[in-house]
Order: sequence, then structure tokens, then C-alpha cells
Amino acid sequence: MSALSDRPENPAVGVAVPHESAKEHVTGAALYTDDLIYRTKDVLHAHPVQVPRAHARVTALRVAPALRVPGVVRVLTAADVPGVNDAGVKHDEPLFPDEVMFFGHAVCWVLAETFEAARLGAAAVEVDVEPLPSLVTVREAIAAGSFQGATPRILRGDVEAGLAGAAREFSGDFEFAGQEHFYLETHCALAHVDEAGQIFVQSSTQHPSETQEIVAHVLGRSSHEVTVQCLRMGGGFGGKEMQPHGFAAIAALGATLTGRPVRVRLTRTQDLTMSGKRHGFHVDWRVGFDADGHLQALDATLTSDGGWSLDLSEPVLARALCHVDNAYWLPHVRLTGRIARTNKTSNTAFRGFGGPQGMLVIEDILGRCAPLLGIPAMELRRRNLYRAGQSTPYGQPVRHPERLHRLWQQVLDDGAVVERQREIAAYNAGHPHAKRGLAVTPVKFGISFNFTAFNQAGALVHVYKDGSVLINHGGTEMGQGLHTKMLQVAATTLGLPLTRIRLAPTRTDKVPNTSATAASSGADLNGGAVKNACEQIRERLALVAASMLGVNAADVRISGGVAHGVGGTAGVAWNELVRTAYFQRVQLFAAGFYRTEGLHWDSSVMRGSPFKYFAYGVAAAEVEVDGFTGAYRTRRVDIVHDVGDSLSPLIDIGQIEGGFVQGAGWLTLEDPRWETGDGPARGRLSTQAASTYKLPSFSEMPEVFNVTLLTDAEEDGVVYGSKAVGEPPLMLAFSVREALRQAAAAFGPAGMSVDLASPATPEAVFWAIEQARAGAGDGHLVEADVVPPQPGAEAHPLHPESEQVGQAVARG
Ligand code: MTE
Ligand code: MOS
Repeated sequence: MSALSDRPENPAVGVAVPHESAKEHVTGAALYTDDLIYRTKDVLHAHPVQVPRAHARVTALRVAPALRVPGVVRVLTAADVPGVNDAGVKHDEPLFPDEVMFFGHAVCWVLAETFEAARLGAAAVEVDVEPLPSLVTVREAIAAGSFQGATPRILRGDVEAGLAGAAREFSGDFEFAGQEHFYLETHCALAHVDEAGQIFVQSSTQHPSETQEIVAHVLGRSSHEVTVQCLRMGGGFGGKEMQPHGFAAIAALGATLTGRPVRVRLTRTQDLTMSGKRHGFHVDWRVGFDADGHLQALDATLTSDGGWSLDLSEPVLARALCHVDNAYWLPHVRLTGRIARTNKTSNTAFRGFGGPQGMLVIEDILGRCAPLLGIPAMELRRRNLYRAGQSTPYGQPVRHPERLHRLWQQVLDDGAVVERQREIAAYNAGHPHAKRGLAVTPVKFGISFNFTAFNQAGALVHVYKDGSVLINHGGTEMGQGLHTKMLQVAATTLGLPLTRIRLAPTRTDKVPNTSATAASSGADLNGGAVKNACEQIRERLALVAASMLGVNAADVRISGGVAHGVGGTAGVAWNELVRTAYFQRVQLFAAGFYRTEGLHWDSSVMRGSPFKYFAYGVAAAEVEVDGFTGAYRTRRVDIVHDVGDSLSPLIDIGQIEGGFVQGAGWLTLEDPRWETGDGPARGRLSTQAASTYKLPSFSEMPEVFNVTLLTDAEEDGVVYGSKAVGEPPLMLAFSVREALRQAAAAFGPAGMSVDLASPATPEAVFWAIEQARAGAGDGHLVEADVVPPQPGAEAHPLHPESEQVGQAVARG
């Protein structure tokens, strides 16, 4: 067992404590970035000028009319940028563009005394544009050959030989939707300039260091002149990993030019129409199984919808390719990835970061092929789970695959799955107009940033003379409970009660060069750094205590706020120890650092061991579907999830519940749509409000929802034996989608393979039911022996309309 994972007696980690800000969240006392404007004098408000064209060249921009609007102070344009006119790290995102790349692209910003004046000013700006041809869907981009970034490939074995040797071969294609983050707090930044010209930006950002870098390069300044602070976020979900930078840069630019604080806060519609979302994908695939249903070979081309610029599309695609296997052994694999460039907002990180998209490919394939193989989907999945000695398609050994099998069995037992399957069969036989389905799906999710350099973190811990402790670390709080965990880690390492420790907001002048709080690795990385800082202080204090107690420093333990020698009864209280140390001139603060060991990744060949470990989980979901409308209910969900030895069980269970529901939203409810016609509204996001974009709410919660943490699951080599939790549970929601597929199939003859659109909205489920009822089966899936696979076979719609389903039926 490593020192990092080893827990002392009576640790503060592992205790079920509420989120450190829970009370403030529910009473409204918690401050978010925009709350600060009420505490700030002379704030100017910024409003974007959005151009309603999918693609156009800006031929003229007249700001004078805006300046005549009462209250308008200034209009920010490209001419005002002293540094680099770019909001991204790839230098493909002009902050003030002269080419409109998506419907609603902001070309300039108006600053005014009030938000309303800024809005009126923005409406008065005159923009002349020359429309250009646009690509709105992935399919249009594929047809036009419009791609951006790298085209990575993962190869193992010999796919053609694997397919040729397979007993059964199927091929198909599949397109699935992205997802809107819909964090409750929209993008927000508030910038100040001090008397020395130093810039202070409060930003709702998951990546304060990168926000700092972008603000600096837009202003033509050095990083040490810019400080970024993030109090907390009202949700980020990946949407604030890279997208906040430009908004922070606008606020900072406005502040430097006017000398006044500038606030940028997007309205909900601005946020929806200007910021990127989860990538939707198009996938072509061929798969081979042996006679027993074991996967033999998979050949797939994944094309993501990157939107107008790269943003994080390349790493998202890499993670997608690294998760196509999900929890299944694939001997022969060829996975190819491409990023389409479309005239839409630039798609970005979203909880799971491509992992969900990759896994959806294999889960969809298994769900569609199981009936054709004559193997129940649950059994097909179980049979293909990784076993000891196997490795992922990119060459990383799969450690602890037995945990997958343990989780699987526990879900079956706890959920009384076999018994309920019998009940479901009886129910379905007796109900012609309603059917139930139950599916079990696994998750294996790699933890660490694929980009190795990001796997480092820092912390700064101060012990004051009165014995109170203040910690800073590089991670940001977005509701996920990172700060709660960091308080527990510090309390554990220092041997103090939680009440002695406070945590200060994340700031780039406290801990520099931080990574995004992302990839679920916030607690692993920052926890390692906080622990390291606390250990330095503890070791210094142990020397002081040793002389006070007359024992060896190595024998000093601090626990419950008292230092004592091992086995001894005499003790020194923490406060006294700290005071003594101060008078002995012992340093009472420390900077901590952590880097994840043992990672290597060669992105040029997509091989290596990019992940420290895998997080595992299994879910069983039961749904009931109405045959007249396709409407459904989630009757029961049982989850057993592996978080190692939990740092904070209440937080972890909350993350699992929330992640699962968010995943179910992506897969079964949320339906982002754009105008695809040729009219002037082409490229417009039609779902630009909560009224048209359906999010899961309490009414979509499973009626019975059991979440259990796997026990005896300590993870060696990670802070206090824990595992990351933020993203992996989202992918447990495949169980709901697969249960819906099975319920829809139950309307048809036995053994029916059903093609289900994603999202599987009630409408999509209805069309799947119709498909089953017609006895038509999955018209988009082809068995090689029957009909040879047709690469690049024509499109099938994301949201099948009746006549298109008719087509599929005719072909099937
Ligand atoms: N939970 C809440 N409540 N709000 C969020 O924005 N973001 C998720 C996840 N859980 C998020 C959340 C995402 S995308 C990630 S990567 C992780 O939290 C990041 O935090 P962690 O690394 O501390 O787990
Ligand atoms: Mo999470 S998508 O890695 O911010």
C-alpha cells in the first residue's frame, strides 16, 4: 500500500459530511460571480452584438448609432485589441471576428451604464454582411469534406481477418445528438483594473490559469499582471473548461479601456446560442462476433461535430476513441476519428469528455445485435466484459477487471434482477398497450487527462499563529464537492477536526499554472497537493512536538487536534504546538505539489497507458413505455459504483445520482435542434430556451433509485485510497436507453432488433415501437452474409420522421 493511499486512524475523509456550501446554496447566501456586481461601484455592463447568419463576411460595422443611445459608454471592436485578437488556445477563435462563423456569433460588444442601455446599444449597431454558404449538420460537413484538426486512429490486431473469421458480421451507421450544459449560472466575468494597471478578473471558469493566459494575450500583457479568481460556479459540466476565456477577455479589455469595472454576464439565450455544447457524432461501423457472441472485431469511423472552431474537439475525440471499448474486450480493432467543421457554436467538453460518445457506439451495437445473435442483451454484455490479463485497444492493461464482475453480480442481487425479469415478462404478456424493459449496462472510465502535462496540481496551506488553517488549491468548485473533499483531506493529514480548517476561493496568484478542474481528476490531483503541503507542515510540527513531549519525532502522531507520542498518554494541544513552533521560528505554511506517476501516452499512434486507473460502475434500469405515445417512466434504477475508498460518501452518492440523471437527459430527453432549411434562419438554434429544450427534473427521477458504493475497493496510489467520481456515473444512463429499446421491442415479435434514435425521446421511442410492431426490425443494420456492407450507405435521420421510418422498414 502506498503512502498516498494509506489512511491514518479516525480520518476526516470517508465521513459523510454535507457539501461545505450546502446551507449557502439552499438559502441563497452563496455568492456567484455575478452577485459581486451589487458590491462593486460604477460597474459597466457588456452586451454582445450577435449576427443572425450561419456564415457571412462582415463588410461594414457602424458603431456610431450605438454611441448615441443614452447610457452607452463605448463599443469594443477588433481595433481595440492591444494583443492577440483570439479567445482560444488554438488561435482559431477570433474574439472580434470579421467572418461570422455561426448563427449568433458576436462581432463586437457594447459597454453601458446599465444592462438595458447596453442591450439597446447593441441593437443599434449596424452590421453589413455578405452571406456565405454554410454547413449545419455533420452529414453536410462529411459530404463537403469539411474537417478540422487531427484524424487519430487506434489500431490493434487485424480487423479484416477478425471480421472474416467471425461467425456473424453486422454493419450499420448511427448518429446521435449532443447536449446543452444548462448549468444554472450562465457564463459570467467581472474585471477590475487597479492603480498599478494590474487586472483582476472574477470568472466563472473551470480553468482559471487558462483564463488568465488568454486575458493576458488579448491584452498583450504578461501573466503576472493578470489575476483570475473563481469563487464557485453554479455548474460547469465541462462547459466552463475553455469557453469562459473570451468572455473574461471582453470584461478585462473593457476595464482596461474605460478604467471601470466591466461585467459580462450572458442571458440564458445568449449562453445557449453563443457557447459550445457536447459533441454529437456520426458513426459508421462493422462488427464481428464468434458463435458464442464474443466480440471479435470492430471497425468504426467516428465523426464528431466540432462546430466552427477546434476548442477541445481534439482531446474530446481522443477520449471518445479510448472509450469505444467501454468495459468489453475487443481483440481486433480499427477506430478512426474525424472532426467535422460546421457553422455552429464550437462544441466543447461535457461531463465524460467524449467518453460517453465513444461508449454509446458499442452499447448501441450490442443492443441492436443481441436479438439477431439470439442472446439476451444482458447476457451478451456480461459475456464480453474484460477479464484478467486483457488490455484496451490502445494497449493499457485493464487492472481490476474482477471489480466489473463483482459490481455486475451485486447489481443483479441487490436489484433482484432475475426475479424482476420474470415479472416484466408476465406484465408484458398481459398488457398489449404498455411494455416494460430492464437493462444492465457497465461503465469503465479512464481517469487522468490524456494530455500528460495536465496531471499536476498545486496547493498552498497556511497555519496561523492561533492554530487556524487556511487552504488554497488549484481546483475550482462547481457544485461537485471538491472543496468539501479538500477540507477533509487537510483535516486528515493534519489530524484536526474539520472545523479548524477553512478554504479560500481559487485564485491564480495563490496557486499558479493549474490545470482545468476536469477529467474528474480534481480530487486526485489537488488532494495529492493539499496532502503534500499539509505533510510538510506536519513534519515540521512533529519536530517541535517531539522536543515538547520528549519523544522521537518519528513517533509523534497528531490526531483530533492533539499531538502525542505513539502509545504515550501525554499530549500537546494543536494551538499550543503551533504557538510554540511560531516562537521557535518554524515555517507554518507550505506549498504542496503533486504529479500523477506512471502515465505515458503517444498521441501520434494513440498508444500507451494514459490513465492512472479505471473507474467502474454497473446500473440496472427498468422502464415502462406507453404504446400509444412512446412516453415512458423510469420505474427503478439500481447502481453499484466504484469510487475506491470514498473521500466523502454523501458527495459521491450525490455525484452518482446527478451524473446518472444528466446522462439520462442526454440519452432520452434533451433534443438540441438547429434550423437546417435554406431560409434566412438557417443555422439558428431552435431550442434556445428552457421551454423548448427539455431537461430532466424531479419528475424524471427514477421512482426507485438505489445507489450503493462498492465496498473493499481501496485504490492504491491515489489520495487516501479513493477514486474519481465526477464523470463516470453519467454513462450508467445507457441502462435507461437500452431498457427503452427492449421495451419498444416487446411490442413486436420476439427477437426483434430495434433501432432507437438518440436522444430516445418519447417521439423516438414511439417510432421504435412502430418499427417493432411492423415486424420490420432494424432497417439500418445489415448482416454481412445476407447483404454486403455498403460503406458510406445513405443517411438515416437523427430524428426519424414517419416516411423515413417507412423507408427503413421497406429496406429491412
Ligand atoms: N457536479 C456538479 N454539481 N456540477 C458540475 O459542474 N461537473 C462535472 C463533475 N460533476 C460538475 C459536477 C464534470 S464535467 C467534471 S470533469 C467533474 O465534476 C469535475 O470535478 P472533479 O474533478 O472535482 O470531480
Ligand atoms: Mo469535465 S467534461 O472534464 O469538465
